[in-house]
Amino acid sequence: MEYAAQISGTGSAFPPRRMTNDEIAARLKTIGVETSDRWIQERTGIAERRISDVTQENETNSSLGARAAMRALKMADKAPQDIDQILYATCSPDTLIPSTACWLQKKIGADNAWAMDINAACSGFVYGLITAEQFVRSGHARTVLVVGAEVLSPFVDWHDRTSCILFGDGAGAAIVEQAPQKSKKRILSSYMSSNGHLSEIFYIPAGGSNLEMTPDRYDRKENKMRMNGREIFKVAVRTLTECALRAMEKKHLNVESLDWLIPHQANLRIIEAVANRLHFPMEKVILNVDRYGNTSAATVPTAMDEAVRDGRIQPGQMILIDAFGAGLTAGAILLRW
Ligand code: ACO
Repeated sequence: MEYAAQISGTGSAFPPRRMTNDEIAARLKTIGVETSDRWIQERTGIAERRISDVTQENETNSSLGARAAMRALKMADKAPQDIDQILYATCSPDTLIPSTACWLQKKIGADNAWAMDINAACSGFVYGLITAEQFVRSGHARTVLVVGAEVLSPFVDWHDRTSCILFGDGAGAAIVEQAPQKSKKRILSSYMSSNGHLSEIFYIPAGGSNLEMTPDRYDRKENKMRMNGREIFKVAVRTLTECALRAMEKKHLNVESLDWLIPHQANLRIIEAVANRLHFPMEKVILNVDRYGNTSAATVPTAMDEAVRDGRIQPGQMILIDAFGAGLTAGAILLRW
C-alpha cells in the first residue's frame, strides 16, 4: 500500500547574538582587510547573521535543532514519542560520533524513533525531506522529524573576506506525516543530483580521517571552509534552475502553477539570477538571507517556517523548494500545502 507524505508542522530557532556587516568590517579592519556593509549588501543581500556561543548548552547545533523540532511538533499537534524517524541534516555536527540526530533524540525524548544524520551540506534539508517522503510513502514510517541545522561559525575563517561575510547559525525543522494516497496536501515530486567532481570548489580540507587535525594544519586554517565563490555562483545558478525545471516537469507543470519558490539562501544575487532564468517573479520568492545569511541546511526550513507562521503560505498553494550545496549536491521538491 502506498501513502502520501505531507508536512504537518514547521519550526525554527536561532541563537540570540546578531552580527552585523559593520561588525565584520570593523573586525577585518584590525588586520588590514577592507570590506563594508554596502559591499556585502550589494553583492549578497545579507545585512546580518546570527552566531552561536557554543559554550552555552542551549546554542549548540542539537540544542537549536531541538528547539526547532519542538515548535514543529507543536504545530503538528504531535509529541516527541510520536516520532518514529529522525533525519538530521547538518555538515557542522555537535560531534563526529555519535550523530547530532542522536543528541537531539536524547534532548527531546523521542524514544520511539531511530535517528541518523544526513550530510549533503546546504542541500541537506531537501535530501532529508525527500528521504522522509520515501519512508512515509512506503509505509515504513508514519511520522518523521526532518531537521536542517548548522553551527557553521566555528568553521568560518574570520580573516577571509570572501567567505566570512556569508555564513550564519540556525535551525529549522519539519514534521513529515503519512496521509491517505489521494491527499491534496502532499509532496508531489522531487529531483536530486550530485556532482562529486566539483567537491573542491567548496570544502574543509582537514579534520576528517584523511587529514587528522595537527597544530600545523590548525595554523594553516585547514579546518576552515575554503571556497571558490565565483565558480560556486555560476554552478549554483545553472544547477538550481535545472533542478526546479526537472521537479516541475515530472508533474507536467510550469512556473505559472507555482505560488511560492523557497530557494536555498546562499546569496540574493544567485536567487535573483535563478528567478530570472525561470521567469519567476521575485515577489513570490521567500527570503530570509538578509537577516540570517547562509545557514546552509537550515535556510530552507527556516524560510518556510517563517512564511507558514506569518500566513503567506496557505492551504492548497503550490510550493517549489530548490537547493544546492557543497558536493556539489542539489535537489528540488514540488509540494501542495
Ligand atoms: N568586501 C570587499 N571586497 C571583496 C569582498 C568583500 N567582502 N569579497 C571579495 N571582494 C573583492 C574580491 O577580492 C575581488 O577583488 P579583485 O577584483 O581585486 O580581485 C572583487 O571583490 C570581486 O570579487 P568577486 O569574487 O568577483 O565578487 P562577487 O561579486 O562574485 O562576490 C561572493 C563574491 C559574494 C563570494 C560571490 O561570489 C558569492 O556569493 N558566491 C557564492 C558563494 C556561496 O554561495 N557559497 C556557499 C555556497 S555552497 C553552500 O551554500 C553550502
